Amino acid sequence: MKTLAVLARKGGVGKTTVAVHLAVVAQQAGKRVLLIDLDPQRSAAGWWRERKAETPELVEAEPRQLPEILAAAAEDGIDLAVIDTRPSAESDAVLAAKLADLALVVTRPAILDLRAIGATTELVKAAGRPGLVVLNACPPGRDDAEASIVREAREGLVAYGLPVARNSLGQRAAMSHALIDGRAVTEFDGDGKAAAEIRALWKEISRWQSINVAS
Ligand SMILES: Nc1ncnc2c1ncn2[C@@H]1O[C@H](COP(=O)(O)OP(=O)(O)OP(=O)(O)O)[C@@H](O)[C@H]1O
Ligand SMILES: [Mg+2]
Repeated sequence: MKTLAVLARKGGVGKTTVAVHLAVVAQQAGKRVLLIDLDPQRSAAGWWRERKAETPELVEAEPRQLPEILAAAAEDGIDLAVIDTRPSAESDAVLAAKLADLALVVTRPAILDLRAIGATTELVKAAGRPGLVVLNACPPGRDDAEASIVREAREGLVAYGLPVARNSLGQRAAMSHALIDGRAVTEFDGDGKAAAEIRALWKEISRWQSINVAS
């Protein structure tokens, strides 16, 4: 079993959106996926309750339960665990990062979001686990070129010492609409741009050296 932790000390950057979407896309790619909701707001669990399908599986937990939940999931034959965390508690993020094969640090590309990212990149590095920054809610680019704010964000992020995913996610209404009734964009509008972006991000992550679950 491989474990992805989705982190950001800043609120509202898209942790739950990214966690839920990656869990569904991985499941659609044939993996048995467990989504672990560590946020007391229970946003991922709320999404799951609206969902018609039983998969991906979901567990709501206190952070201190995480080691035993991961051990039980591995024993049970889960291929991928995706952990959604709350922004406010550093200790939750540290624990999730320490237990992850890859810690995804989610940020929006705007300057105030980027300035806040150091707290999260530092804790991932201190946890000694591989990390990857995911740019979320990016303005659309033109043709194949990324928007200038995204290009500038990539340049600025070099200073934080974690790699940045080549595949970013756009600011797309479908990304939030799909969640209303417990779906993901790949189920809501599978041929749309948002679905293509999340599939491309999953492909990149699934081939990441410390994850390597691509089939
Ligand atoms: N790529 C996107 N396109 C459009 N809307 C998005 C995107 N990502 C996130 N959002 C919207 O931004 C808001 C915050 O997203 P989300 O709840 O996933 O963030 P979060 O980091 O989990 O927040 P919290 O810190 O409160 O847990 C939501 O309304 C969500 O629908
Ligand atoms: Mg959240």
